[in-house]
Amino acid sequence: MNVVVVTLFPELVAAVGESGIPRVAVESGALALTMISPRDFATNRHRTVDDRPFGGGPGMLLMAETLANAIESAKQSLPAESPGAKVVYLSPQGQRLDRSKVESLSMSSDLILVCGRYEGIDQRILESLVDEQISIGDYVLSGGELGAMVIIDAIARRLPGVLGDADSVVQDSFETNLLDHPHYTRPDVWRGLRIPAVLRSGNHAAIEQWRAQQRISGTARARPDLFYEYGVDERSRTLLTSAWQHADETND
Ligand SMILES: C[S@@+](CC[C@H](N)C(=O)[O-])C[C@H]1O[C@@H](n2cnc3c(N)ncnc32)[C@H](O)[C@@H]1O
Repeated sequence: MNVVVVTLFPELVAAVGESGIPRVAVESGALALTMISPRDFATNRHRTVDDRPFGGGPGMLLMAETLANAIESAKQSLPAESPGAKVVYLSPQGQRLDRSKVESLSMSSDLILVCGRYEGIDQRILESLVDEQISIGDYVLSGGELGAMVIIDAIARRLPGVLGDADSVVQDSFETNLLDHPHYTRPDVWRGLRIPAVLRSGNHAAIEQWRAQQRISGTARARPDLFYEYGVDERSRTLLTSAWQHADETND
């Protein structure tokens, strides 16, 4: 997958491809990450990329022409055989990023992520060159770079062959509208805290049943909104009831 990021801070975004899973994605060739700076398309000798907003008000805006040239250059940098690259503008006014949006982005072969700065970008760019706006949450950042890095990280782990065990993604939180179950590693008693006995039983069916219970009861407790979407069928009702009974017995 090709991801081109249009940003005034290429070195900031480059850092996401230098560690952990995104680095594995880059090194394995599953992800090609490149950056293009609007400053390289500035026409005056100060390489100005911003200007004051019409109508007055605080702050500056990224100018339309330099940003348009950067986005068009990003499109031209992509392989000629796949001209349909989606242009995504990171914006607090966009659709909130979630698991299904990450999944659909990860299935495209080419993606252009446009990072705003200052008060944002000229509206005419949104109308003429941007396909979609994505927000990473209901708060305002000083630039779109962290949002682009969040998308790149979340996509990278879904690309074929990047995670050693493909089941990791399937078992992650949100994949089935449930949160992940708790995890433990050695030692089995740490500072007086003992792991649940079932995890040492060697009984794989019992372990899977315990994990399913934990996913259901943990989601019902921490994220009732997700649990509602998951839908309570007969199996989850039984698992939930037995998890709560077990918790009551443990508390007695
Ligand atoms: C200071 S913000 C501009 C905020 C804009 N004036 C507003 O209130 O909607 C500068 C840039 O940061 C990025 N940004 C800020 N918050 C974001 C968020 N929650 N999700 C994605 N990008 C964000 C956008 O690219 C935006 O153009």
